[in-house]
Amino acid sequence: MTALTLSTAGAATLRADALVVGVAKPADGGKGLVAPPRAAAVAAAFDGKLATVLETLGASGAEGEVVKLPSPDGVKAPLVVAVGLGQAPEKDAAFPRETLRRAAGAAARALHGTKKAAFGLPVDSAEDAQAVAEGALLGAYAFTAYQDRGKDAKGPLAEVALLGGKPRDKAYKAAAERALVLAEEVNRARDLINTPPNDLTPEAFAAVATAAGKENGLKVQVLDEKALAKGGYGGILGVGAGSQNPPRLVRIAYTHPEAQRTLALVGKGITYDSGGISLKPAGHNETMKCDMSGAAAVFAAVVAAARLGLPVNVTGWLALAENMPSGSATRPGDVLRMYSGKTVEVLNTDAEGRLVLADAITRASEENPDAIVDVATLTGAMMVALGSRTFGIMANDDAYRTAIHEVAEEVGEQSWPMPLPSDLRKGMDSPTADIANMGERMGGGLVAGLFLKEFVGEGITWAHLDIAGPAFNEGGPFGYTPKGGTGSSVRTLVRLAERTAAGDLG
Ligand code: BES
Ligand code: MN
Ligand code: ZN
Repeated sequence: MTALTLSTAGAATLRADALVVGVAKPADGGKGLVAPPRAAAVAAAFDGKLATVLETLGASGAEGEVVKLPSPDGVKAPLVVAVGLGQAPEKDAAFPRETLRRAAGAAARALHGTKKAAFGLPVDSAEDAQAVAEGALLGAYAFTAYQDRGKDAKGPLAEVALLGGKPRDKAYKAAAERALVLAEEVNRARDLINTPPNDLTPEAFAAVATAAGKENGLKVQVLDEKALAKGGYGGILGVGAGSQNPPRLVRIAYTHPEAQRTLALVGKGITYDSGGISLKPAGHNETMKCDMSGAAAVFAAVVAAARLGLPVNVTGWLALAENMPSGSATRPGDVLRMYSGKTVEVLNTDAEGRLVLADAITRASEENPDAIVDVATLTGAMMVALGSRTFGIMANDDAYRTAIHEVAEEVGEQSWPMPLPSDLRKGMDSPTADIANMGERMGGGLVAGLFLKEFVGEGITWAHLDIAGPAFNEGGPFGYTPKGGTGSSVRTLVRLAERTAAGDLG
């Protein structure tokens, strides 16, 4: 992955292939450009004319805008990359961190094929530096494992030098280290999501988790199809029944000797969702390798917690199965006996995520954690409700739901609290079983949440993140978000673990 260094060098004097600076619209909403905020040396090298030059080139300072220009004498890097920051904050206040993160990401993407870039964005604190570093490292991501474009292939930006970095300052050093771990783990999730489903089977995913667990001192246990049958995991087995690639339940645990709390994370890991016998039509199945994004996020977050040495226990549960139609597949009308003992009438085999999650949530509950958070690409309905960049948060505890929303805001992930209206429960009444896996169409995301709620152990705080929208970017890249797997919710989960450690949550 892209390397990261902190540099005390001035923006104009650092040897690099490109220098990234910010361009903003004036704080007062007036005309013209503020370029470059907090980079006096660069302004001086341009004789104070950088803003004018950029205006000539059509720059507006809008977020996401990237304008390249050759450097004048006095700037060592031959290329200046001016990236839009939107409107400058009033009175020299710091730019919002997510603005910096996105700007750094847009610049890093525009620098694909470049060796070393110096980032001279307006950084006022170690936290700002972390945001810029995260954005640059996330924006530089590329998934090329399945492409061989020969030796001319351009790689992603190879090295990020953070200016104004204060490498001897403890806070800045820690910020750089955190940014590197977070970006590497988000990118680990992205790689898994982007890996095609013929290669990333439940068994292959479990093997990846086992190897990473070993590398990071984590305890990993894998239940294969035999162990799942012996344990009575009817939900996971029922979903995996149609596939040649049998299901797995992975427990991956990070423990800290001084931990006071335990956070359980449960991830939906459908390595491919064809819909099963309730087959998805063409046009709805091409991206369904992304249906293990929840498990990928959980896995990456546990590894990140370990690498950061957070003083909290984090247990990840990866509910892995492939949802396929075949002669052995679960039929609409079948009744499954779940790990909890409850029976579920499967009315639609495409509502499979809640079945694998239910078993994993019941299992996670047995260890009586302080909280359980599940993460899943669960419903198309959540995308209809919130669009493709915002995940929904449901919970059995209003304060916890609010806390997770705030945590997500803190790390720059878009989310919104959603209710679990009890009147929707009766739509899942089944004449045959304890509950059906489908209910009313309206509010489908909330119905799915209500289903999961029934499998949470008595008295345990629980939240559910439906990341169906933001998990996989089908549009063009933006900010630090690439096309394809995004790693949505990884940063939220890691921050949540941190807050749990501090004891200010669940
Ligand atoms: N994996 C899908 C949800 C999904 C849709 C994720 C689009 C990402 C993008 C899930 O398993 C599913 O098929 N849900 C059904 C539920 C319905 C049958 C009750 C849905 O949302 O249509
Ligand atoms: Mn489905
Ligand atoms: Zn699914």
